Amino acid sequence: MKNIIIAIDGYSSCGKSTLAKDLAKKIQYHYVDTGAMYRAVTLYLLQNHIDIYHPEMVEHALQNITISFEYNAESESQLTLLNGENIEHEIRVNPRVAGSVSEVSSISAVRRFLVQQQQAMGNNKGIVMDGRDIGTVVFPNAELKLFVTADPQVRAQRRLDELTEKGQNTTFEEVLANLEKRDLMDSSRLDSPLKKADDAIEIDNSYLSKADQLKLVLQLVNEKTSVSLS
Ligand code: DC
Repeated sequence: MKNIIIAIDGYSSCGKSTLAKDLAKKIQYHYVDTGAMYRAVTLYLLQNHIDIYHPEMVEHALQNITISFEYNAESESQLTLLNGENIEHEIRVNPRVAGSVSEVSSISAVRRFLVQQQQAMGNNKGIVMDGRDIGTVVFPNAELKLFVTADPQVRAQRRLDELTEKGQNTTFEEVLANLEKRDLMDSSRLDSPLKKADDAIEIDNSYLSKADQLKLVLQLVNEKTSVSLS
């Protein structure tokens, strides 16, 4: 089996990360959640009271940010570290992070800073990376590109279940409104807007089980990685 780059893009809360994680585990690839990197930058800016509407100040602050990932064997999951500190829980549940991350990710200096790191992570291939611009900007030559979609109502319900499970008190309407706002900002920003790469395969998982989705994707991976004998 040859090592490839698998790029997974799509809207918020459409199950990209779950798919990417399960896939990486199954084929023993590295998994990189680029959304976590944008969330980590956002958390740093909020914690340090940096005005996110002031791109020069944001650009300056980037020099003080180191993001890394660590595998946690106990929870069998990946932790995001900001300057060595575990911020995994905080970036997922802090509503201020969710409220500002689209704005922060529209700043070109932030995108340049993170894209460079993401490209370096793919040097040895054997990677599954998910985000919004992976197939279009980060790895335009990725061997396999997936574009995942799902109905907004279905996505909002999934996100609500996730937040409730993490102890957050919110409503379906709030979650749906935040999701629609992020969809609009992600797909209409000037720098690297979310869009399907021409050669990406679209998967609508509104009514597809996780297991069936994974089966489908594994088939696609197989097609791309098996060495042709002809
Ligand atoms: O996937 P997520 O919801 O954790 O992403 C958080 C935000 O980061 C989302 O609003 C869009 C942005 N993002 C981005 O602009 N580019 C990426 N490659 C990944 C995420």
